[in-house]
Amino acid sequence: MPSPFTVSDLRQRPQFFNSVADRIWRAWWQAQGIPLDHISGRLKDNMTATPIPFTLVAHDGKIFLGTVSVIASDLPERPQLTPWVAAVWVERSARRRGIGSALINRASQDCLALGFKSRYLCARPQMTLFYQRLGWNLVEQGVGEYRLNVFVQNT
Ligand SMILES: CC(C)(COP(=O)(O)OP(=O)(O)OC[C@H]1O[C@@H](n2cnc3c(N)ncnc32)[C@H](O)[C@@H]1OP(=O)(O)O)[C@@H](O)C(=O)NCCC(=O)NCCS
Repeated sequence: MPSPFTVSDLRQRPQFFNSVADRIWRAWWQAQGIPLDHISGRLKDNMTATPIPFTLVAHDGKIFLGTVSVIASDLPERPQLTPWVAAVWVERSARRRGIGSALINRASQDCLALGFKSRYLCARPQMTLFYQRLGWNLVEQGVGEYRLNVFVQNT
């Protein structure tokens, strides 16, 4: 039986800061030659009292399971849209247990609670079904250098 998990704001669980920075770096920045220190420095912005940006972590007690962030801007080609649910990552051994879905849903709900009626997300086309199943509407395809799909959630 899969073990339970909790979703917390990283500001309340700073012990997971290094794990989050490491996973974001490995998944999206290491291959581009960006140093880990640079990602850690940017992640510090998500630890301040400002409502956005923020980061959520999924954990089982002290065990880190996954993360998601909410940032003001994720696509340079669409600067007018905000906020964005981004950088969702679940530890390989913890996948297919609903953790990624829970993180994304909670991030979107938290944005709604902050007063943002529309929340945005961009992803590779292969992820389209995953996000549509979670209630995200595809609004644009093939945007920017990485030909990303753009989704919105309005409810
Ligand atoms: C995508 C990711 C966050 C999903 O996390 P998860 O905890 O396994 O997600 P859930 O358990 O909530 O949902 C799993 C469902 O998503 C589907 N899914 C997972 N990755 C998928 C993908 N790349 N494309 C399509 N569907 C996918 C699975 O098939 C599964 O559906 P099923 O159980 O009905 O078959 C995780 O695979 C991950 O961290 N991937 C690497 C980072 C990444 O790609 N992030 C997204 C960037 S846009």
